[in-house]
Amino acid sequence: MSQQRTLVLLKPDTVARKLVGEVIARIERKANWTISALELRTLDRTVLEQHYAEHVGRDFYEPLMGFMSSGPVVAMVVEGERVVEGIRALAGPTDPISAAPGSIRGDFGTITRENLIHASDSEESAEREIKIFFPGLV
Ligand code: TYD
Ligand code: MG
Repeated sequence: MSQQRTLVLLKPDTVARKLVGEVIARIERKANWTISALELRTLDRTVLEQHYAEHVGRDFYEPLMGFMSSGPVVAMVVEGERVVEGIRALAGPTDPISAAPGSIRGDFGTITRENLIHASDSEESAEREIKIFFPGLV
């Protein structure tokens, strides 16, 4: 057993396209995972700069910041067995064109920037990102 937690963002395209229920249902279908925090909020630049610090200077950075602040997101903490790797697998690769049918990005994604979901890429990233979005959680 490897109990983990991860930070998930349902991006503005997911909320605008009314796919929140669909994506959460896929996460809840995994019986050994639990949503332990959840909030609908519109992200400001300060939070996004912290969250996407690793991408500063990349050509997609400013368009990404604009998109991510264009409307509300659903921020969640999900806990459970190998959930870091597991939600990345449910999401599929960053570019929806190369994401397989059955994955969230493969089924609903359009362009790389609007790829529906963020999920932490490691246990270390998860702890860093959870502190940004849910500073009150221990
Ligand atoms: P990244 O951390 O590489 O992907 P992931 O979300 O799969 O961990 O990039 C963060 C986000 O930046 C990605 O979800 C969408 C956006 N992005 C672009 O718009 N263009 C790109 O070429 C890349 C690599 C990412
Ligand atoms: Mg990433």
